[in-house]
Amino acid sequence: MCGIIAYSGKKNAVEIIIKGLKRLEYRGYDSAGLACIENNLLTIHKKKGRVLELESYVKNSNLQSGIAMGHTRWATHGSPNDTNAHPHTNTAQTISIIHNGIIENYEALRKELQNKGYKFRSETDSEVFVHLIDHIYQQQQCDIETATRMALSHIVGAYALVVMSQDEPDTLIAARKGSPLVIGIGDGEYFLASDATPIVEYTQKVVFLNDFEIATINSNGLHIKDSSNIPLSPLVQQIELELEAIEKGGFEHFMLKEIFEQPLSVHNAMRGRIQSHSGKIVLGGLRDYIDKLAQADRIIFLGCGTSWHSALVAEYFFEEYCRIPVEVEYASEFRYRNPIIRKNDVVIAISQSGETADTLAAMEIARDKGALVLGICNVVGSSIARNSTAGCYLHAGPEIGVASTKAFTAQLTVLFLVALEIAQKKETIKEDALKTIMTELESIPAKIEKALQLDAQIKYISSIFKFARNFLYLGRGFNYPVALEGALKLKEISYIHAEGYPAAEMKHGPIALIDEQMPVVFIATKDSSYEKIISNIQEVKARKGEIIAVVTEGDRQLTSLTDHLLEIPATHESLTPLLSVIPLQLMAYHIAVMRGCNVDQPRNLAKSVTVE
Ligand code: G6P
Repeated sequence: MCGIIAYSGKKNAVEIIIKGLKRLEYRGYDSAGLACIENNLLTIHKKKGRVLELESYVKNSNLQSGIAMGHTRWATHGSPNDTNAHPHTNTAQTISIIHNGIIENYEALRKELQNKGYKFRSETDSEVFVHLIDHIYQQQQCDIETATRMALSHIVGAYALVVMSQDEPDTLIAARKGSPLVIGIGDGEYFLASDATPIVEYTQKVVFLNDFEIATINSNGLHIKDSSNIPLSPLVQQIELELEAIEKGGFEHFMLKEIFEQPLSVHNAMRGRIQSHSGKIVLGGLRDYIDKLAQADRIIFLGCGTSWHSALVAEYFFEEYCRIPVEVEYASEFRYRNPIIRKNDVVIAISQSGETADTLAAMEIARDKGALVLGICNVVGSSIARNSTAGCYLHAGPEIGVASTKAFTAQLTVLFLVALEIAQKKETIKEDALKTIMTELESIPAKIEKALQLDAQIKYISSIFKFARNFLYLGRGFNYPVALEGALKLKEISYIHAEGYPAAEMKHGPIALIDEQMPVVFIATKDSSYEKIISNIQEVKARKGEIIAVVTEGDRQLTSLTDHLLEIPATHESLTPLLSVIPLQLMAYHIAVMRGCNVDQPRNLAKSVTVE
């Protein structure tokens, strides 16, 4: 949801900004822009469309500057066009801002500023920032840092903000509340960005800016203060992000690369957490809270999108192995209810990005009501990670494709380990059963590898169904959330309408949709629901639906009942989602590519949803 990058140093800042915007494009891609200061003159360059449009737009200007900032936008207020693109400037074009987030009181501020004579050019909420800073700057005759600080005190909402001013041509001011901002510290140079991806090729030394902090970068270096102007000492951290991890590595799309990375990412998610010699599971991040988890009266999972689907799968195995009641909540719904939280409830927030605004807000409500709030995130140092009392990282590596794939399987792996650690503590699982599952879990990466070999067959099936207008995905038990996830993948990137349903619920509605035009994907692996799902397959067959079934390797029983069989390796029932989702990810991918869709950056979607 909007990407921010800024640079100050000896290199050509404009080149760094363009390169950085390309790395951040997965966060927003409807328009892009940059501001730089050349010969003491602030200039703005912005273009509707992808970063490539901006790049070719500025190419001939041969901009040379040691200080610049750029923004890639995901529209919230106002349509994607050149005017609404960031940076925005004051009327005199001497102050410029880039902003990620939402200003909730922008209507009131806009009116106030208009009454003072300010003319607005864009339809964005962000533009009020720059006029407000300008107004305070003129009135108070102060420096730009003070004007920014004072302006922020009028803002209700979320922001990651960078300000540049022609009057202070070596200065970058940055502030955050609710939207992420990382500061990179290089050799005589500084970077500001929404996440570390555009920074890692220059430096691994970073400072994560906290809410209500303001950073100033100028010839005196980096200074961070709180909102009351009290200086703070920055906590410099070393990030372990490799450049290769954020490049396509020979794959046509990030999504395909990330699907094929799953044997490794699942392996990394469990690495060091299963002690085979002692038969124990140890999640370091939860060490001090495992007793509290084991004594929980209830576990509430919070998440959005794919992370919510992971929670749904987790509900099955937490109840099965830990015998703790589980509730799975959409963070966006939870935060606006008056949820009942009891003393022994534990809340676990699940998020790939660690920045989802609804999840963050829901966590806050749970904490205010007295719950222990834990986090399971992929992005190290993200807001959710920092706002949780404790938690675990996924270690899946950066996920750039907007449609989540490897984060889903890594989430399942980590959640599974958490459940088993609790079960081990509570002794709700027998030792030999635990050993069997753990051994099976360790074999999952190799089995994912095998499932990935279905790629060519799936490509062929995709070519048959690429023009379908609707798809239905059905599963039962552990595979019901996988059906939801399969449908989500397809609609996200191919724009085909797809619904996921618990297979038995089909007869209460979706069955009315079935005819020879309707492809129905069944997840029908050999598990405790197998016989039941065969009946559901028959119901679809009787109505001439086209059946694609994900089945367990060697299953011949379904050959005559289905049109296409996708065989995945056999595994322990509760681990099936780690394998059954693979063909669904691949099918969504191939169909989207065949329909000419932009797989990594599907329309209207963003990777990191930092607005509610
Ligand atoms: C967006 C992304 C999804 C993701 C969801 C939740 O909608 O496009 O892929 O599942 O946000 O994001 P989170 O980072 O909290 O898992």
